[in-house]
Amino acid sequence: MNKKNNFISYGPDDTFNFGVELSSKFKNGDIIGLIGNLAAGKTTFVKGFLKGLNYKYEVTSPTFTLVNEYEAKNKVIHIDFYREPNIKRWNNIGFSDIINDNAIIIIEWADLLLDLLPENTYKIYFEHDLKNKRKIYIK
Ligand SMILES: Nc1ncnc2c1ncn2[C@@H]1O[C@H](COP(=O)(O)OP(=O)(O)OP(=O)(O)O)[C@@H](O)[C@H]1O
Ligand SMILES: [Mg+2]
Repeated sequence: MNKKNNFISYGPDDTFNFGVELSSKFKNGDIIGLIGNLAAGKTTFVKGFLKGLNYKYEVTSPTFTLVNEYEAKNKVIHIDFYREPNIKRWNNIGFSDIINDNAIIIIEWADLLLDLLPENTYKIYFEHDLKNKRKIYIK
């Protein structure tokens, strides 16, 4: 990562390894929103992130489950807003309780429901560049 918190990924392995690297920088209670289009690398990043926290099992996209939980070195709750952009449904399933768990919370498609995110949410942007190139930056 350079001084501007920009990272250039030239393939899935780079994005995965960036996730591994970043996993050590977060603690329980942190909320991370991942923002970027289809196939921008959000889930690939989360897979690396969990690898960095010594998680040994398969990590899958919560596209359909909406919420996945992993007991890794830290507990990680992996959420995806893509298929449920209705804020009422998230409130009904207890979104605020879910994110107040003592865990690291990672949310794909966080930009779809910015109103649900606490102010201190970290945001990581994934930009699809050329075929296998992605720009990733943290705000
Ligand atoms: N530099 C790169 N980083 C990450 N993935 C890449 C890169 N280059 C190509 N790919 C490919 O792009 C796809 C990224 O898929 P991934 O599931 O991580 O995206 P996503 O952002 O989670 O998408 P979705 O919005 O569908 O959840 C994979 O098929 C991967 O092989
Ligand atoms: Mg995904």
